[in-house]
Amino acid sequence: MSRHLITSALPYINGIKHLGNMVGSMLPADVYSRYLRQRGHDVLYICATDEHGTPAELAAKEAGLSVAEFCAQAHDTQKAIYDGFQLAFDYFGRSSSQQNVEITQHFARKLAENGFIEERAIRQVFSVADDRFLPDRYIVGTCPHCGYDKARGDQCENCTRVLDPTDLLEARSAISGSSDLEVRETRHLFLLQSKLQGEVEEWIDRVGGEWPQLASSIARKWLTEGLHDRAITRDLEWGVPVPADTWPELAAEGKVFYVWFDAPIEYIGATKEWADLDPANRDWKSWWYEPEGAADVRYTEFMGKDNVPFHTVMFPATELGVREPWKKVDYVKAFNWLNYYGGKFSTSQRRGVFTHDALEILPADYWRYFMMANAPESDDTSFTWEHFTATVNKDLADTLGNFVNRVLSFSRKRFGDDVPAGAEAGPAEVKLGEEIAGLLAEYEGHMEALQFRKAAASLRALWSAGNSYLEEKAPWLEIKTDPEAAALTLRTAMNLIHLYSVVSEPFIPSSAKAMRAAFALEGDTASWVTPEQARSLDAVPAGTAFTVPPVLFAKITDEDLETYRERFGGADAA
Ligand code: 2FM
Ligand code: ZN
Repeated sequence: MSRHLITSALPYINGIKHLGNMVGSMLPADVYSRYLRQRGHDVLYICATDEHGTPAELAAKEAGLSVAEFCAQAHDTQKAIYDGFQLAFDYFGRSSSQQNVEITQHFARKLAENGFIEERAIRQVFSVADDRFLPDRYIVGTCPHCGYDKARGDQCENCTRVLDPTDLLEARSAISGSSDLEVRETRHLFLLQSKLQGEVEEWIDRVGGEWPQLASSIARKWLTEGLHDRAITRDLEWGVPVPADTWPELAAEGKVFYVWFDAPIEYIGATKEWADLDPANRDWKSWWYEPEGAADVRYTEFMGKDNVPFHTVMFPATELGVREPWKKVDYVKAFNWLNYYGGKFSTSQRRGVFTHDALEILPADYWRYFMMANAPESDDTSFTWEHFTATVNKDLADTLGNFVNRVLSFSRKRFGDDVPAGAEAGPAEVKLGEEIAGLLAEYEGHMEALQFRKAAASLRALWSAGNSYLEEKAPWLEIKTDPEAAALTLRTAMNLIHLYSVVSEPFIPSSAKAMRAAFALEGDTASWVTPEQARSLDAVPAGTAFTVPPVLFAKITDEDLETYRERFGGADAA
């Protein structure tokens, strides 16, 4: 048994996430955590809402709530959706927690003590009407290059040129629309990342070798371009306050840390939140602090590719600069984009499928399976309703669901409510056992390597093997001439169903549970079955009572498909 710490990128508090967010972070982390738990490892899966930053403030304003109230509500809304997706976090915290405030402030003090934080004066745009400094992207105006009149202070969306807010013509505040803007001097804390470049490089040389290419190439690119010192404070009302004991003036001015400074620290913060809720978890530091046990923990992070620089370079730089033995990531699993009909999922334009809508239409397992079977691992992939429908109907409804239902209903009809005994296993069962053991070994290999598409393909192959066996043995014909042979086939097929319930659990936990619950096996759990154990297909003995569960997966009809396309916009939406 080994110890696995798992985190998935923290979803921003504002707005409900779309499937593209889910597939690159929380869902694969959950699939992996479930798999490891089933295999008997000690797993801690931590996530949280990322609650600071200007977008949260603006969303609160729009909702007519204080930021604190807005965040509390939005956190609960998101959490309920993730429960609906069956994401089995050990804890889902909040980056605005007191625990995160304390740890973030501690990190900042240590960085300062070690000479990695410096106070510098900068000139920044101040909006008199809004009575605040504006981040670059909250200043809009006309692009001096192409004349686009809604260019942002950091970049023109139309001609993609990178801009400085002072380049904009007729600049105005994106918050109030006021053009009463001034450039004022303000003081901020800078993290001297340039001083940590060498150490980060050395660390990546040591651990980055086994990361998937997507993660390591992004990390290398950032290092090659050179680490720049970065402002890590902002003039905002909502955020982790700069500690007054170390920076009294800045604290008095109400400076808070930049959201990307405190967000990754919340991985630690949320672990402490988890511990503070239950005395049984009081050894939380054994997950994070190397001398207290974390040296033996394997830490895996899940994220979309845009998050890679922060997790492979900036957060490690922070952890290194603190000069305390905090756990650093061992393996970074990064994902490309899931697109919607080849175009981007977009929160601002509400294009694509959002997580709450998805659950309103169909149960979580349908989405979980589709997303993981098409996870954007080596490349971007696309969601289309046509592909989704075909996958659900073929893999889930036909290959798995129909198998389960056919076998159990037929057996009940012919042999009653207990698993029939039938003849001794023959050559067909031996061959099936071999095949199952081989496929299961393949499946495990892909899961260990965090290759989720390949793992889903092996799982599908396991389901298919059951169908081939059933077609070959044809118990509906055997029953006419040799009921003992039919009973053997059905008992073997029922054992396959039980095996499927165990090995499908990471991908489709609710359906897996329904399959397992069909058998009245006392003390039955989802604990893993090795290929060797699976080979004999005898976990469910003759005489075990069983029930026929309701249809596991309903097919998506042509009418459903049409309705979804109309509601969400099909090919024409991209
Ligand atoms: O990109 C995002 O959605 C960020 N909220 C991810 C933060 S991950 C972490 F470091 F907290
Ligand atoms: Zn432009």
